Amino acid sequence: MEINHLLKKGVEMIKDREYGNPVLEAALLLGKLLNVDKTYIYTHGDTQVPQPTVDKFLELMGMRKLGYPIQYILKEKEFMGLDFYVDEGVLIPRSDTETLVEYVLEYIDKKYKDESINFLDLGIGSGAIILSVAYYKKNVNAYGVDIHDIPLKIANINKEKFNLNNVFLYKGDLFQGIEGLGLEGKIHIIASNPPYIPKKEIETLQREVKDYEPMSALDGGEDGIIFYRKIIPESRRYLKDGGLLILEIGCDQGRKVENIFIREGYKDICILKDLQGLDRVALGIMK
Ligand SMILES: C[S@@+](CC[C@H](N)C(=O)[O-])C[C@H]1O[C@@H](n2cnc3c(N)ncnc32)[C@H](O)[C@@H]1O
Repeated sequence: MEINHLLKKGVEMIKDREYGNPVLEAALLLGKLLNVDKTYIYTHGDTQVPQPTVDKFLELMGMRKLGYPIQYILKEKEFMGLDFYVDEGVLIPRSDTETLVEYVLEYIDKKYKDESINFLDLGIGSGAIILSVAYYKKNVNAYGVDIHDIPLKIANINKEKFNLNNVFLYKGDLFQGIEGLGLEGKIHIIASNPPYIPKKEIETLQREVKDYEPMSALDGGEDGIIFYRKIIPESRRYLKDGGLLILEIGCDQGRKVENIFIREGYKDICILKDLQGLDRVALGIMK
């Protein structure tokens, strides 16, 4: 079958899906299978596609039709200008999370430009936050923790891919993962994008998310803020005086999370908005 014909067939299969861009997705997927970029697909409509590739393409488009995320099919997601390997079992990095990372990078430039500093990321997933920070700031020793094996495996693959030797990854339940490393009172910046969807809202999420992304990356307990109640007080043990705690939040969680920061005695507390103008990050300084 020719590329044009196959592409049309693929687009037809997924055009009624609620989310996504059918033409782009079909072109990216076929390009992935043929090991060419999407421009080649658009400009070589007459090229014949081998039958096994046709079959594989139609099988994957069938999965996409059921809501299986395109990023898991392509095994890739761009984040902060880096191509992260992703697969089932890790959250697909969201562009919203770039708000937090960009703040951290600027903060390091402003406050710790030529200083060697310790950075901790709780709940690393694919490594989106920790590896971007470690990639762009070589003066950072970056420690990361996740409770599950798959995120650790995938983050390690990405660490190798970006050739980073300033990253140290551990398995554990939040701070338990770095126990015994002697980091108490020595961390300059703690960051986290914890699970923050209230349990009862998970059912209302789009199919791509609720059916295929890991529940352990989404479920923030009954009211969605269970992780903030643990991370904000416990960070005090690990942060240096004047250290920064920065957390991604759900767009309606600003007030509640801010209150926890206040209660726990942080200063310069502030809520940052994402590119859509929604509350997305809460931060405070340890005093
Ligand atoms: C929302 S995802 C964030 C992933 C990644 N940091 C990102 O921004 O794309 C949350 C991550 O926290 C991990 N996690 C959940 N509970 C945890 C716990 N108690 N301790 C450490 N990690 C946990 C999950 O496995 C998941 O990888």
